[in-house]
Amino acid sequence: MVKSFKQVLILVFKIASIYSLSAQQVQEISIAANKPSAVLQPTMWGVFFEDINFAADGGIYAELVKNGSFEFTLPLMGWQQVRQEGYGRVLPTFYTPSNSANPHYITVFADAASGSFGLVNEGYRGMGIKQNNQYNFSVYGRISGNPDLRMKVELLDPKGEVIGGAGLEGFSTSWKKYQVSFKADRTEPKAQLRLTFTGKGSIDLDMVSLFPSDTWKERPGGLRKDIVQMIADLKPGFIRFPGGCIVEGRNIANRYQWKNTVGPVDERTLIINRWSMEIRNRQAPDYYQSFGLGFYEYFQLAEDLGAEPLPILNCGMSCQFNAGEVVPLSELDQYIQDALDLIEFANGSTTTRWGSLRASMGHPEPFNMKYIGVGNEQWEEQYIERYKIFEKILKQEHPEIKIVSGSGPSASGAYFDYAWEELKKLGPALIDEHYYMSPDWFQKNADRYDTYDRKGIKVFAGEYAAHGRDAEASESRNTWLSALSEAAFMTGLERNAEVVHMASYAPLLAHVEAWQWRPDLIWFDNLQTIGTPNYYVQKIFSVNKGTHVIPALMEGKPLTGADSLYASATIDRNDAKVYIKIVNISASAKPVKLNLEGVSFLKNGEIETLEAKGLYNFNSIANPKLIYPSSKPVTVSGRKLNIDLDPWSASVIKLDYKKQR
Ligand code: AHR
Repeated sequence: MVKSFKQVLILVFKIASIYSLSAQQVQEISIAANKPSAVLQPTMWGVFFEDINFAADGGIYAELVKNGSFEFTLPLMGWQQVRQEGYGRVLPTFYTPSNSANPHYITVFADAASGSFGLVNEGYRGMGIKQNNQYNFSVYGRISGNPDLRMKVELLDPKGEVIGGAGLEGFSTSWKKYQVSFKADRTEPKAQLRLTFTGKGSIDLDMVSLFPSDTWKERPGGLRKDIVQMIADLKPGFIRFPGGCIVEGRNIANRYQWKNTVGPVDERTLIINRWSMEIRNRQAPDYYQSFGLGFYEYFQLAEDLGAEPLPILNCGMSCQFNAGEVVPLSELDQYIQDALDLIEFANGSTTTRWGSLRASMGHPEPFNMKYIGVGNEQWEEQYIERYKIFEKILKQEHPEIKIVSGSGPSASGAYFDYAWEELKKLGPALIDEHYYMSPDWFQKNADRYDTYDRKGIKVFAGEYAAHGRDAEASESRNTWLSALSEAAFMTGLERNAEVVHMASYAPLLAHVEAWQWRPDLIWFDNLQTIGTPNYYVQKIFSVNKGTHVIPALMEGKPLTGADSLYASATIDRNDAKVYIKIVNISASAKPVKLNLEGVSFLKNGEIETLEAKGLYNFNSIANPKLIYPSSKPVTVSGRKLNIDLDPWSASVIKLDYKKQR
């Protein structure tokens, strides 16, 4: 195309100015691989699992039937009666004399000599069913009257068409577990389960259950494989569970009691999930905790992930944002006993009461738990008074266990200062800090830990996330801006690994149709699971961890926002690798020259980058990889590496070096 002289001049001017600008702006960053400043704890990057947003039931716990035990406050919630040329009725009934953990069952009276009568379960916002996958149905049943009562188990699509099923018959007059498996003909995200009876008579039913066979590690009654895989891909160093405010309960009665979550699933006592009613415009009356995912399963998951289990226990206080009930100090024994018994459950010999329960559940070997959290997010004297008693006894009985204490719900302020001041006089191994702040706060606080006492109590950044702009789509709060700001902040966590021994984003999981809290790290629906930009930022740090922190300096100083750049670096002495994380929070590309010192770097390296076209872009179920890491090779020349950092980007540069003999 022929250009006018004026156009050519403008073009020349533009090119010249770009060159002169970039020439001026090249920032030199020195990386000293031979000057390790701190060891990176294997626990540095972990995950925080809370049963919020249908993370457990309806989420990672692969059970497809909602309220299969009929223990919801309304025993038939999630169920609907159906008939085809037949009649019947359903009565929620109580066991007699008692089954205190699971007191209800239902009695179905069928009068359907030719047709059928029965019930449909709606699942958790439907049931995610996959074509050709095997489904395992089970139910406890007991018949009275006609022994010929026959049962049909069918999966339906939203139009009512059958997409898989099987039959059951020959019920006995005493309680027995009946099971049948079948394949699904089609994939369907919103299926339902229909149970119908033909014949005339009555049958008692309890613990109705349907699991896919392709669970994580193919465990019957196990976890959703795709969700666990996403977590496993992060290679987390620890898993904190089961919460969060879930631990505290809205009141003391509603607190998390681990002993009710172990043993046979039908003997676990269900409770309403506190998040069912916590958020005014996100009410979920059908949100319960069946505890099919209980403490045994959490420990097993931690073991599968190669992560340290970090259980958090109630310390005799309910959520101070809700009822704020406190248990008198004189009645704290039961709570402390729960902690001692948990250590026995996780680590005790199989000859002990709780160790033998663990063995009976399939794990005679100890889980080797090393950490325990006392309280979640409590504050003021009530917490410190209770914490003190826990600490004294736990240290006396189990000096090998590291205690994690809390510092309240915020990153600074009176509660936070008071907690730190008091806890310094005591002896927790770690203090858990929580911060849900603006993206700007995260950027400005990349140097937060630079001034923390190197010899003091270690920090657990247990819950953090940048909270910014909201839009309608469920996943929309996980913006690129939030993730980028967290990346900037995380360079500060990594640089201060001497102080920060553990860190986890919060919360971990959310169902796109049933969430209460956002942003979250991983979103899922009934069939799919997606990583947010924040997830990929976490992954940059956690899978490129290294063994030691090394200096990454610009003009002799850590990069905490000068020229909009943030950086940290680590060395992996086992794998002979150096990882440099660099974040550019600006609209312009940044040419950077890395001066690589201390080891003999190999020529060929790699840069993995996360970036987005817009700061408010986000990943969604419909577009799961809009923001996704991309890699390209880089070449070290002499001891230099020149890189152009993309605007609004977070990168990790991965370099190999020659190991000295
Ligand atoms: O992660 C959601 C909630 O935030 C947690 O339950 C609580 O610890 C914090 O306030």
